[in-house]
Amino acid sequence: VSPFLQDSFGRKHDYLRISLTEKCNLRCFYCMPEEGVDLAPKSHILTDDEIFRLAKLFVRSGVSKIRLTGGEPTVRQGILNIVERLSTLRPLGLKAIGMTSNGIALHRKLPQFVANGLTHLNLSLDTLDPHKFEIMTRRPGHQAVLQSLEAALASGLESVKLNVVVINGLNDYEVMDFVEMTKSKDIAVRFIEFMPFSGNKWDKSKIVPSAELLGRVLARHPSTQKISDLGNDTARSYKVPGYKGSFGFISSMSDHFCGTCNRLRVTADGQIKVCLFDGTEVSLRDQMRRGASDDELLHVIGHAVGNKKAKHAGMENIDVLQNRPMILIGARSRPR
Ligand code: GTP
Ligand code: 5AD
Ligand code: SF4
Repeated sequence: VSPFLQDSFGRKHDYLRISLTEKCNLRCFYCMPEEGVDLAPKSHILTDDEIFRLAKLFVRSGVSKIRLTGGEPTVRQGILNIVERLSTLRPLGLKAIGMTSNGIALHRKLPQFVANGLTHLNLSLDTLDPHKFEIMTRRPGHQAVLQSLEAALASGLESVKLNVVVINGLNDYEVMDFVEMTKSKDIAVRFIEFMPFSGNKWDKSKIVPSAELLGRVLARHPSTQKISDLGNDTARSYKVPGYKGSFGFISSMSDHFCGTCNRLRVTADGQIKVCLFDGTEVSLRDQMRRGASDDELLHVIGHAVGNKKAKHAGMENIDVLQNRPMILIGARSRPR
């Protein structure tokens, strides 16, 4: 990658997450405060052209994977066109176009997403119980997500992953059911430790450390095998022999993976964020709107990347008040 995308610890950033919207059609409690969030005025949100310009600049500088996030990315008008435009960047070195979605409004559109160039889909689904779904997301829609999952598995995507945020005492007893899903489905289920964000009622006791969950799975399936992970994967992955899919653990809290971090983010309102847990932001939108050249933009990006810290502050020391709620960084959740 270009030196502008390398930080002072030698990490090379070839993975860009672009948030397309702050809006969402669910209201997951771990993603946003109960009272909601103030949305940026529409004029502050990047336009399709601005998104494409930044994406092209990042790909020219060495980014090979772009993931579309939100809010809920499918809520953005014109997302299919954005995917189509991004896929024109393949000759410049873009290899993967991913999306993280809650699957509420996805299953009918999936074939078009794939036709337009989407390669990787991560679906968020925290529970197999429709009642619990409504508690966790404060909205109905469980069946729609399951339909999207089936559609995704049949769609020819390169990979389909399921994101399960595990909350102690709420859905942790479902972990074995999710593992059993991998018996017949070629899916990668990832159990995610609950992360602290502004207003999300985080508390250390609500985390179930990955090591503990793995212990539970091993007790049931002693033959579980470790399978290889890509160098920058967020998850450590495992497989029950004979099962079609796999499962893994994203231990951002108990065992962070900052040393191999290759991610940068652009928020829906055009701020570059070099770390999920660092509130420091630099506006690329303002630079573009004041007429900055690509070279000037790259210097601004390089400066931000140069300031990236070695790792997050540790779960008890993360300054959530200086950071945005997850909904405004790049996850899924919430209308207003
Ligand atoms: P892949 O491209 O499939 O590896 O996706 P991903 O796991 O990076 O992204 P996804 O949007 O599916 O997010 C799943 C979980 O990964 C989130 O809930 C976070 O716990 C974790 N995660 C994603 N990006 C970051 C990051 O930059 N830093 C940390 N610490 N965790 C992250
Ligand atoms: N802790 C862990 N994961 C979270 N996500 C959103 N908020 C949190 C949180 N507080 C997840 C979503 C989505 C992914 C991008 O981030 O469920 O799958
Ligand atoms: Fe990268 Fe920050 Fe996430 Fe660590 S916490 S993996 S440095 S984005």
